[in-house]
Amino acid sequence: MLDTASNRPDLPPEIARRRTFAIISHPDAGKTTLTEKFLLYGGAIQMAGQVRAKGEARRTRSDFMQMEKDRGISVSASAMSFDFDNFRFNLVDTPGHSDFSEDTYRTLTAVDAAVMVIDGAKGVESQTQKLFEVCRLRDLPILTFCNKMDRESRETFDIIDEIQQNLAIDVTPASWPIGVGRDFLGCYDMLNDRLELMDRADRNVVAESVSIDGLDDPKLAEHIPEHLLEQLREEVEMARELLPALDPQSVLEGHMTPIWFGSAINSFGVQELMKGIGNFGPQPQVQAAEPRQIAPEEKKVAGFVFKVQANMDPKHRDRVAFVRMASGHFKRGMKLTHVRSKKPMAISNPVLFLASDRELAEEAWAGDIIGIPNHGQLRIGDTLTEGEALRVTGIPSFAPELLQTCRAGDPLKAKHLDKALMQFAEEGAAKVFKPMMGAGFIVGVVGQLQFEVLASRIELEYGLPVRFEASQFTSARWVTGPQDAVDAFVNANKQHISHDNDGDIVYMTRLQWDIDRVARDYPDLTLSATKEMQ
Ligand code: G4P
Repeated sequence: MLDTASNRPDLPPEIARRRTFAIISHPDAGKTTLTEKFLLYGGAIQMAGQVRAKGEARRTRSDFMQMEKDRGISVSASAMSFDFDNFRFNLVDTPGHSDFSEDTYRTLTAVDAAVMVIDGAKGVESQTQKLFEVCRLRDLPILTFCNKMDRESRETFDIIDEIQQNLAIDVTPASWPIGVGRDFLGCYDMLNDRLELMDRADRNVVAESVSIDGLDDPKLAEHIPEHLLEQLREEVEMARELLPALDPQSVLEGHMTPIWFGSAINSFGVQELMKGIGNFGPQPQVQAAEPRQIAPEEKKVAGFVFKVQANMDPKHRDRVAFVRMASGHFKRGMKLTHVRSKKPMAISNPVLFLASDRELAEEAWAGDIIGIPNHGQLRIGDTLTEGEALRVTGIPSFAPELLQTCRAGDPLKAKHLDKALMQFAEEGAAKVFKPMMGAGFIVGVVGQLQFEVLASRIELEYGLPVRFEASQFTSARWVTGPQDAVDAFVNANKQHISHDNDGDIVYMTRLQWDIDRVARDYPDLTLSATKEMQ
């Protein structure tokens, strides 16, 4: 069993000040805008608008990126580091589109907490709900930001109630909005007894903050019209009676979420949220691994790959493995052991990501995310240590939900197709299966859009037009069991057997009935819809 989330006093200060998190939200709720403001206050960018502007400059570099832009989705994830209030934040970006849920799932294995952004008018939307469920599987602490309060929004109690009902989590207000829509003035900071007043004239101006002495303080009348003040007093009194008070331990265990109200575009409420992540968010946590878990304060360095991204820079054709540091103090140039191959690797050019720039990482502590450029040795799920044979667990691979055969448009280039598909398989962008009988490959994905992205990337990055065609199969299951039982099964079912990109045996069919039959006829075998990446 893993320890539940906790903030321990005995962590080295450099580790204790790290907060590694992701933002989960439904498209359009304001994730990009909030990220931008985080980076602005974290000093990583000078001006709001830079993330988007840079993003667009990068995207126009290729048709593939153009496609991403046209569809308004973010296919590629990255990590950003910035400092605020003595904390070091590591924000890992999750791809928002539901077709990329597997990637998102793995990204969430690399963080200690999630910030859930909801739109004050729309409440909990479908994608938020899905992502929340994934966080719940890992008991990730969640901090909530209710955005777009400058627009007409729902009643505050309604929003809180909806989160409590739909997500089955206790909600405690960290701030309380004053007025709605055009009348929205700002928030009462319930944790610090302050008024935060939004400046509508300048979107980049931080709110005016007024210290008060409770809601009966006469100073309030100078800032809030009588009818809104009356309403605020009533609502806060009711909230204090009806809603649970902030319990930091319950937040760390993922049972309670504090909610801040604000408007990312107006820079309002963002700093309070950042302070909240610092003060109530988890420190780097213990990592599940075999044969023992890894604690962040261990002197020796360990880390694991949760994402691989190829061709980030088309000029260099490099791959970057995103590594979450699980323990210790890493220094540039260190030799680490690549546990899967048992080979040493000198990590001489690790990168840190600041907004959309990269810079050399001279050091990194448990909790940090570094990028390691490599030529394909590093795969998702790999563990790096100072020698001990540890393997981080819990990074799953899901059976694909859609299968199609893939053929090279030009048969003379079929060999290159092999290489291209393997690369995407290692990135985790698709599953690639080589059938025992017959030619070609079967490619498996979670969502249809991934086929289009793949076809477009293979053409762009390898100059190789490809065709995806319907496959005779619709389901894939990994087969494990005693060797002789597996061999007997494979021999009797060659038409249905493929090897995945790691060489593991997969049974393919179009009928659930077949899967049930195998389970009945081969009781020693396990047919499984997930496998651990290793
Ligand atoms: P996403 O990454 O979650 O998809 O959302 P994003 O930040 O792109 O925001 C979606 C839209 O909501 C954007 O408008 C953005 O400007 C707007 N928005 C974000 N925060 C707030 C807020 O606090 N108040 C209001 N009123 N709007 C907000 P857009 O028109 O789609 O894009 P743009 O033209 O403004 O860039």
